[in-house]
Amino acid sequence: MKQLLTEEIANRLAFQFHRELHAFYSYLGIAAWCDLNGFENLSKWFLHQANEEKEHAEKVFDYLLSRDSKINFVGIPSSKSEFVKLAEAVRWALELEIQVEKDYQELAQLSLEKKDYTTHEFVMWFLKEQVEEIRTFKSLLDQVELIGDNLGNLILFDRTIQIEE
Ligand SMILES: [Fe+2]
Ligand SMILES: [Fe+2]
Repeated sequence: MKQLLTEEIANRLAFQFHRELHAFYSYLGIAAWCDLNGFENLSKWFLHQANEEKEHAEKVFDYLLSRDSKINFVGIPSSKSEFVKLAEAVRWALELEIQVEKDYQELAQLSLEKKDYTTHEFVMWFLKEQVEEIRTFKSLLDQVELIGDNLGNLILFDRTIQIEE
């Protein structure tokens, strides 16, 4: 039996699928910039973040297929890999996370309006995840801004970064 989502919800979920892929792609861009600018550990840290975004995209992908929804592969929007300084890259990542949270909030609201409680439940997982991610990126930005523009100190900070598996 087909269990199609409403078109509006399916479209919004497909949009989120692309948003997550865009976050994946964007964090690869930041990871590349970090590596090229001497921030080796932060590069690995952003690669790890990128992989989490890929997992998020797959989660949305699996959900859409489980609800028999067709996904249009419209392409991942282009991203940045040039930054003036580390704080700019981290601030940009934080802005992406805040945007993603806003999108999931709208989707949570829409799913309630459409009485699609399964999608609502699904989206709540992402909203909880966003709380954690925004906190993580804010804390990283605070630390980087506190250090300031001294490159030596920023590199020393980079060496303290650990990647949780
Ligand atoms: Fe995500
Ligand atoms: Fe994220």
